[in-house]
Amino acid sequence: MNILILGSGGREHSIAWACAQNPKCDRLIVAPGNAGMARIAECASLDIEDGTRVVEFAEAEAIDFVIIGPEAPLAAGVGDALRAAGVSVFGPSAAAARLEASKAFTKEICDAARAPTAAYGHFTDRDAARAYVEAQGAPLVVKADGLAAGKGVILCPTTHEALAAVDMMFDGSFGEAGAEVVIEEFMQGEEASFFVLVDGEDVLPIGTAQDHKRVGEGDTGPNTGGMGAYSPAPVLTDEIAQKALDQIIRPTMAEMARRGTPYQGVLYAGLMIEGGQPRLVEYNVRFGDPECQVLMMRLGAQALDLMQACAEGRLGEAQVTWAEDHAMTVVMAAQGYPGTYAKGSEIRGTGELPEDSWNTCFHAGTKIMAGKLIAAGGRVLNLTARGQTLSEARDRAYKMVDAVTWPQGFVRRDIGWRALDEQ
Ligand code: AMP
Ligand code: GLY
Repeated sequence: MNILILGSGGREHSIAWACAQNPKCDRLIVAPGNAGMARIAECASLDIEDGTRVVEFAEAEAIDFVIIGPEAPLAAGVGDALRAAGVSVFGPSAAAARLEASKAFTKEICDAARAPTAAYGHFTDRDAARAYVEAQGAPLVVKADGLAAGKGVILCPTTHEALAAVDMMFDGSFGEAGAEVVIEEFMQGEEASFFVLVDGEDVLPIGTAQDHKRVGEGDTGPNTGGMGAYSPAPVLTDEIAQKALDQIIRPTMAEMARRGTPYQGVLYAGLMIEGGQPRLVEYNVRFGDPECQVLMMRLGAQALDLMQACAEGRLGEAQVTWAEDHAMTVVMAAQGYPGTYAKGSEIRGTGELPEDSWNTCFHAGTKIMAGKLIAAGGRVLNLTARGQTLSEARDRAYKMVDAVTWPQGFVRRDIGWRALDEQ
């Protein structure tokens, strides 16, 4: 089978790593890829948000299966274009990708499906939004409706901050994404991510994880794309996962199907858990990054079979084979991230890292220049390890971190603290 993976981050490297281990995989192409992926796949330069170009490329290279990593090509309808051309593809239609592309849409689906989530108001008018803030009082969460590269959510401890956030949105700080605003109740509790595959009808859980969004140790400082993750997430017990499936995921997926826009692909449910009850924070229509890295580490080669079963509507007969294991990934980022950072510094030592089913180094923003490995992004490497326990996985991951020589980079030293404290 010839496989094309769209994307260039650590998420896509981990998907490529899992696919490459599956004997079904003959040819593996990633677009645009990165220096780490280039060691296990062919890298193609391609505008991955241009459906017509992606279809032409898939046809020219006799691609049998396309896996779409990030949300932007999904929202741009690249999945639809491929399906219309008869190419098998893992990832939702643009209509179903609205679950990530519009926060107001997701809230409305939750209402229709009676799925537990934060109380909210949806506004296209500044005065009405301000009046809602005054009436509800803080704490509140103010969100730009559209895709805003993870920056469109403002947590507001005071009414004053919430009013300022509303003004910022309607003043156009988030462009089109902020033309509509959702204002939500601030939910207390512990956050965890639940990943399921959906083939339009059937839902198959494939794992839980916890991300570390803040840049600093002890969960301090500004939000990032994610500084590390581990799987499983102990807070998402079997009982809570079952509630999330029965009360949130299955009813909302049924509502999508009822509207003629069935969901196909991986669904990432961000959940807030308090007093044994999960509530939906948000849906994403793709794997999380870096959560994907720990899921792929645990699933290995079967991930390809599962994604194919999902794309072909065969999830009802699919099964996940679980090991009693744990995985952790630690993100190495360029100093300054998530603010401004320099590109172009050299990274040494990755060539000597262990590469097996217990240890691997996924690349995110990397490039090869003049034979050297160069940092080319904010999040750069993901040192990822598996273990019989979470502490074993952590020790392996940080051992790899310490073997990399990159003075211009940094890590959080406390990835996994929440789960390790609970043990
Ligand atoms: P997002 O950019 O949509 O992933 O949201 C960023 C983060 O904001 C989430 O991961 C939560 O930590 C937080 N968040 C979003 N909505 C709420 C809410 N209603 N209550 C509490 N925290 C929230
Ligand atoms: N790590 C969070 C995300 O991928 O949205």
